Amino acid sequence: MSHIGNIEDFSDSSATGIESGQLRLLVLRRGSDIVIYQNICPHTRESLDPVGGSVASPDGQLIHCQRHAAVFLASTGECIGGPCLGESLVPVGFTLSNGDIYLD
Ligand code: FES
Repeated sequence: MSHIGNIEDFSDSSATGIESGQLRLLVLRRGSDIVIYQNICPHTRESLDPVGGSVASPDGQLIHCQRHAAVFLASTGECIGGPCLGESLVPVGFTLSNGDIYLD
């Protein structure tokens, strides 16, 4: 299992792009909850965050692709608006242990 950081490394209500080896990941944090998706937009297969910074809405419920404004539900990764409507981000398995995040 590869350690990618601690929950405290990520701001609350954020979705942050990171790299782990060859993997491009999007780490979402809402309170004590973490969700991780591949940082690959279903529209063009490019990352969602070319500008950088968080791609989450202020309440952490939505993810916005910075390229062509697709909108995804943070909880499921489903695209609910934009050019990849109905497609989904791909979830990545992980284990949270004492605040540390390990990819499965
Ligand atoms: S690359 Fe994400 S909406 Fe086009």
